[in-house]
Amino acid sequence: MFSALVAASTLLVGANALTPNNIMRRDNALTSLKYTTVGGSGSYNKVTDLVAGEWPSCTVSDYCQTESTTVSGNLAPFDDDITVAFRGPMTISNIAVYQPSNTSASTWSQVSGWTAGSSNSTNLVFMNNDGGGLSGEWSVCGGASQSYANGTWDGSAASPMDSVMDGTLPAGQEVNIVTAQTCNDTSTCDGFTRGTSNHGWSDSKMFVMTVTMPDSSDASQVPAIWALNAQVVWSAQYGCNCRNEGAQGCGELDIAEVLYGSGDDPTAAISEIYSFKGATGSGSSAFARPVDTPTTFAVVFDVQTDSISINELTDWDYTQTAVTRSIVSGYLDASGGETVSFSSNTRRADKRSIFGAHHRRRNH
Ligand SMILES: *[C@@H]1O[C@H](CO)[C@@H](O)[C@H](O)[C@H]1NC(C)=O
Ligand SMILES: *[C@@H]1O[C@H](CO)[C@@H](O)[C@H](O)[C@H]1NC(C)=O
Ligand SMILES: *[C@@H]1O[C@H](CO)[C@@H](O)[C@H](O)[C@H]1NC(C)=O
Ligand SMILES: *[C@@H]1O[C@H](CO)[C@@H](O)[C@H](O)[C@H]1NC(C)=O
Repeated sequence: MFSALVAASTLLVGANALTPNNIMRRDNALTSLKYTTVGGSGSYNKVTDLVAGEWPSCTVSDYCQTESTTVSGNLAPFDDDITVAFRGPMTISNIAVYQPSNTSASTWSQVSGWTAGSSNSTNLVFMNNDGGGLSGEWSVCGGASQSYANGTWDGSAASPMDSVMDGTLPAGQEVNIVTAQTCNDTSTCDGFTRGTSNHGWSDSKMFVMTVTMPDSSDASQVPAIWALNAQVVWSAQYGCNCRNEGAQGCGELDIAEVLYGSGDDPTAAISEIYSFKGATGSGSSAFARPVDTPTTFAVVFDVQTDSISINELTDWDYTQTAVTRSIVSGYLDASGGETVSFSSNTRRADKRSIFGAHHRRRNH
């Protein structure tokens, strides 16, 4: 069905959005969420150096050195390199990333892909935060850098994608995806990098991923999917970084996060967005946690319309190598969902305190 729609849409190049036929609808839960007026003019504290320090303890008070960096424009700072992070318990069966060759291109091509249990991936590397073991680095002030995730997603590997990954992310473990392009002198990454640092996906991009979020025997172990400015992981996701969750922050989008705390619903997955503009989110609405049945999230970051959409899909054909702009516009314009303006520093979601301790448990 879906590929037929893609073919039909080529007849409508430049026309209005073609309504995709695979957007999930549920009676009791959010399935489409759109953030508008995402970008802004402002500044975030870019990490410029992370002083390693000397064993046995960090005695350098300003080990996390930053400078205020001004950015502006559509999607800013989410037009920077972006990584997507996952916390278990979760199973991930497929991921694909699509990008246009420029902001207004009529086709978004698959630039990265991975299938659970497959021995290959295309321009996609799973990392985790265990630097200092088999890959990456650790320092007394900086803590762990990124490392290449090993096949069971609970430790590091010496090389990227070194073994088959079956897609089972244990409770409490985290992985994040980046491209296969390393940060180096000829292909520089913005800000400070160390250890094993790879580029994320910049400018417009669509992430499609099929996941389940099963219950854990320990109810306090709750799953989450979130996107970060990749600068956060290039320094230290837990430690010295530009995240800040709000004022002076370089960008975070919680795509589907289950919260654990008094009053939190373990069957709900919320969304929130943070940048130097402030924070807002899905408020009293939430996606349904896909406990037993896999679901597919499509997350579009669109420079042209300065918006981000999260849609839950009934299915996705991961073999399709391109999607038309018209279909992407259809996801951005999905009716029957919720639209949240990020035009001002208003906080809509009071599900937790803005500086809450959600997935920052491993602070160094
Ligand atoms: C954008 O990309 C499309 C397809 O590759 C191309 O035809 C078009 O000329 C490009 N536009 C700009 C402004 O570069
Ligand atoms: C794996 O490799 C095969 C053969 O090269 C290719 O057709 C397929 O698309 C690849 N799969 C992924 C997920 O990259
Ligand atoms: C991954 O690392 C963990 C922690 O060191 C280890 O227990 C596990 O066996 C490793 N998995 C693989 C496939 O190497
Ligand atoms: C630098 O990174 C680019 C992109 O990942 C890669 O193509 C190139 O081979 C790298 N160069 C070196 C010297 O590692």
